[in-house]
Amino acid sequence: MAGDLGVNLHDNRLRADIGYTLALALALHGQGYATEAVRAVLGHLFRRGIHRVSAECDARNTCSARLLARVGFDLEGRRPEFTRNMNTGEWTDTLLYGLLSSSWRRLSASPPDASGLQHR
Ligand SMILES: CC(C)(COP(=O)(O)OP(=O)(O)OC[C@H]1O[C@@H](n2cnc3c(N)ncnc32)[C@H](O)[C@@H]1OP(=O)(O)O)[C@@H](O)C(=O)NCCC(=O)NCCS
Repeated sequence: MAGDLGVNLHDNRLRADIGYTLALALALHGQGYATEAVRAVLGHLFRRGIHRVSAECDARNTCSARLLARVGFDLEGRRPEFTRNMNTGEWTDTLLYGLLSSSWRRLSASPPDASGLQHR
């Protein structure tokens, strides 16, 4: 398995949270696979009428933060010392991201940039 992408639909079926992981062992990082998977799932959700998708990541997780920005998420906030690492006892900040269907439609309508990659 190359990785996983989870969707948690809110009870009202108008909001969703996503999370994703690329398998470490398969050396698939840095090639855009996670970005492609996240975009595909976002497209699916917004086509089916989802109004808003949320995501969170550890503030030190720069790869994940770049991925979320790349696909169009807005950084909406930062929760200081929100998560505790049970092994080290360290508290880390959590970044909060959101993407609205209106933003997704606007981004999807814009042409790819010179690199051929959309929403970068
Ligand atoms: C988060 C995670 C999925 C990101 O992996 P990733 O390899 O950076 O993501 P992608 O597969 O989308 O690859 C994007 C990278 O490939 C590059 N790339 C190369 N070809 C590309 C293409 N055709 N399209 C898009 N990106 C491409 C991008 O420039 C980007 O690199 P950059 O961030 O240095 O600019 C991965 O680090 C992971 O599994 N981490 C552990 C679990 C985790 O943290 N999950 C998120 C919890 S919030």
